[in-house]
Amino acid sequence: MAQNTYSICVVGSGSFDLFLLVNHFPVEGETLQANDSFIKNGGKGANQAVAAAKLGAKTIFAGQFGQDKYGDGLVEEMSQSGVDMSKVRRLANVQTGQAIITLNKKGENSIIIVGGANTHYDHLNVLPQEFKDAIQSSRIILLQKEIPLEISKLAAIYAKQHNKLVMLDCGGRDEDIPEELLQNIDFISPNQSELKRVMNINSSDHGEITIDEIRQQLLSKYPNLTVVLKEGSKGSAVITKTDYLHVDSASLIKPDILNTYKIVDTTGAGDCFTAAFCVEFDKLFPQNGVQYEDALEKYKKCLLFANCSAFVCITVMGAMPSMPKLESVQQLLSKVQ
Ligand code: RIB
Repeated sequence: MAQNTYSICVVGSGSFDLFLLVNHFPVEGETLQANDSFIKNGGKGANQAVAAAKLGAKTIFAGQFGQDKYGDGLVEEMSQSGVDMSKVRRLANVQTGQAIITLNKKGENSIIIVGGANTHYDHLNVLPQEFKDAIQSSRIILLQKEIPLEISKLAAIYAKQHNKLVMLDCGGRDEDIPEELLQNIDFISPNQSELKRVMNINSSDHGEITIDEIRQQLLSKYPNLTVVLKEGSKGSAVITKTDYLHVDSASLIKPDILNTYKIVDTTGAGDCFTAAFCVEFDKLFPQNGVQYEDALEKYKKCLLFANCSAFVCITVMGAMPSMPKLESVQQLLSKVQ
């Protein structure tokens, strides 16, 4: 098999994010004055690619931007962060994707996305050649839910045909994931509410999903799937048919850490988490298909690295600009280990 040039290939979205800083989220019919606003680069796919590159993985991005100044800005910042952008498609007469992000005083957000080039595919049954090239030269393929799921499905199928590992981050549009996509992924990374959607559970009349439910209702159908669960301030977990491992974030939310690291904006934390998990996985599990005896110990390191990366991310405003460098994460790791 040909050697992979890249550790990670992100097939996904790129957007410009308009942040509106508000005291509270608007309610229906309310006219609200924002305290401030700013524009930054973002989009879940682009954020994940930048996070992976800044954390040290050779990374390529496959996606679509418009031929506008926002598309130019994304290419520039992503290239400067070390992402190979040679397989990005720039569409004429279609605008680059957008996200309108209201951010409250606690650093929590609420987001409306405008698809633009991210959702503009002439044929949903054809995977663009640029995407195939990027996938072929990479080891781990990272997907999200901001481009059409039909395209993500084709990317996953193509990736599996070429013996790649596929991670689906469940962030993005709130829509059902096609079965054929689930059949062609190795890792899925949801938070609790995204997990409910994956498992077709009505969130309003159901508490937190348990490990047993994940095993009975999801892993019994997709036995080779590994769930990498994002639990926010509680930490994260890896769940397989046979194993369960939780790494909590208690060490991160201790007063001495919180005095140094101030939480300002949670936007992009999930993107950062998933990318960081993949980066560490690539390092600690260098061969596909091998049963590592110390797999749980290695997974623990992946989760800790991802938790710390996401924590550094939320101390900086914006999504893409808040993706941390490896040194910042290593510095935090040295304080909590
Ligand atoms: O996950 C954060 C991202 O979600 C933002 O950058 C924004 O573009 C939205 O898509």
